[in-house]
Amino acid sequence: MCGIVGYLGQRNAYPVLIKGLKRLEYRGYDSAGVALITQDGDLQVYKTKGKVSDLEAYADEKDTSGCIGIAHTRWATHGEPNSTNAHPHYSASGNLALIHNGIIENYASLKHQLTEAGVEFKSTTDTEVLVQLIEYIQTSQHLDLLTAVRIALQRVIGAYAIAILDRSNPNQIIAARKSSPLVVGIGDGEFFLGSDASPIIEYTDKVIYLNDGEIAVIRTGHDVEIVDLNNTHLEHEVKTVDLKLGQIEKGGFPHFMLKEIFDQPDCLRDCMRGRINTEANNVVLSAIIDYKERLLNARRIIIVACGTSWHASLIGKQLIENICRIPVEVEYASEFRYSNPVIDSHDVVIAISQSGETADTLAAIHLAKERGAFIYGICNAVGSSIARATDTGSYIHVGPEIGVASTKAFTGQVTVLTMLALALAKAKGSINQADYEQIVGELNSIPDKMQLLLKENDRIRDISRIFTYAHNFLYLGRGYNYPVALEGALKLKEISYIHAEGYPAAEMKHGPIALIDEEMPVVVIATHNALYDKLMSNIQEIKARKGRVIAIVSQGDTRVKALADEFIELPTTLECLEPLLATIPLQMLAYHIAICKGKNVDQPRNLAKSVTVE
Ligand code: F6R
Repeated sequence: MCGIVGYLGQRNAYPVLIKGLKRLEYRGYDSAGVALITQDGDLQVYKTKGKVSDLEAYADEKDTSGCIGIAHTRWATHGEPNSTNAHPHYSASGNLALIHNGIIENYASLKHQLTEAGVEFKSTTDTEVLVQLIEYIQTSQHLDLLTAVRIALQRVIGAYAIAILDRSNPNQIIAARKSSPLVVGIGDGEFFLGSDASPIIEYTDKVIYLNDGEIAVIRTGHDVEIVDLNNTHLEHEVKTVDLKLGQIEKGGFPHFMLKEIFDQPDCLRDCMRGRINTEANNVVLSAIIDYKERLLNARRIIIVACGTSWHASLIGKQLIENICRIPVEVEYASEFRYSNPVIDSHDVVIAISQSGETADTLAAIHLAKERGAFIYGICNAVGSSIARATDTGSYIHVGPEIGVASTKAFTGQVTVLTMLALALAKAKGSINQADYEQIVGELNSIPDKMQLLLKENDRIRDISRIFTYAHNFLYLGRGYNYPVALEGALKLKEISYIHAEGYPAAEMKHGPIALIDEEMPVVVIATHNALYDKLMSNIQEIKARKGRVIAIVSQGDTRVKALADEFIELPTTLECLEPLLATIPLQMLAYHIAICKGKNVDQPRNLAKSVTVE
């Protein structure tokens, strides 16, 4: 949800900023811009509608000299995506340029006050209000920039990560955050800024994660200075990021999404490393050891999440209820936060988020905390806001996910939830040793089975070509595979723009069956488990109405295969682990259909990777 980059040092800033924007383009890509203080002291802003490549074309042959700059890739909230609304925004005098990720909720009243005071606006963005407000405070009260920024931010309601360049102070960047992430990279005599560490790690692994309400003053030849909005100086911890460049590059794949689909076996091995002891067939999660009593005494567990992470939560609910016998509720974080939930210190809330920055999930955590609940986080982004807001938790350790459609994070989340359920069940004594060892052993073999499944890629590509014509898809599954159906439908919608719905298979006859005709592909996850015969009946009902069935079946299946138009076989596993396998062909199906339709799978329209606004 908007990407921010900054550079201050001895290098030419422009190439560093452009490269950084490309690494952050997954956060937003409707317009892009850069501000530089050039060699002759001008504060130049170049910005344009479109992607970072459009910005490069636009800035070609312009003066891109200078060793200090800030840059932005936008996902529009206020104001249509056009060149005027693109960031950076100049202040009225042209002395300041500002970039912003987030939303200024009271921008309308601030804008009204500034307009009354004679300030003129060029754009329709909330961001321009912020830069005008800062300059207005600075000039009308004769203040230095830092003081003006502090006062302005005290008047702002909303979320922001900002960076400001000042023509009259060409060796300084001021940056601040509240509810939107911002990282300062510390190099050798140079500094970097990023919405996350990906634009920084090529140069340094030393970073400071800014906290809410903190302002960083970055100056050549000085240490980074951090103050709060009241000008109190704050100590900061320099952390070392464990991120390799190879993890954020495509590694020979045409798209990040395909790379991330293929990365899954290794990602899950990383996720389980040090947590599953293969010799003892045992799961150890440090959070369970440290907070055993708190977790085991939970009256109930509430899982809060959004989107794909919400789908993973539905699988987690079944796992935890089945083997731990603790009641679990799954809530959309966006609904939970406004629902006045009945929740107190007897409850445990599990918050699941790939990015660790989703605004609704973060707000749900704050609400649950206020009411005394214990918070367990399951995040991918290390050091993210959600990871830091929780009492304890487990990272999924699948590495950065760049493709906007989530793939490896989903299987990582399900893997962590499985380990969590196993570790809790063992500690509680609600699972017998044989079942425990069987699930642990089988979980450990999932990456190898995924690897076999990935060999079906060409076949799935061929199947996808047949169904590119469709305008609607239905996805059906039951039990553990019902959330997989939801996730399969979401993937297809997001990247191919084909309307798709996921349903519990038995619900089909309560409505969706009306849609079925010869035009309608129905993806059915019909593996050999307790509800196999029921699913067979559903498939017969679809075929009786001339629907076209793409079935996900267990290896060796004959009955479903005989009915289905197309089928994909899954290696056999335990029913509770099937989602980890059944998801893979659905990810590949969505990917190939989108490619056949000529869509940009890594940057689908209207979406952004990290949803830091409501
Ligand atoms: C779907 C997708 C989104 C995210 C959702 C939550 O492919 O990526 O639905 O799952 O925005 O994001 P996180 O997990 O970062 O909280």
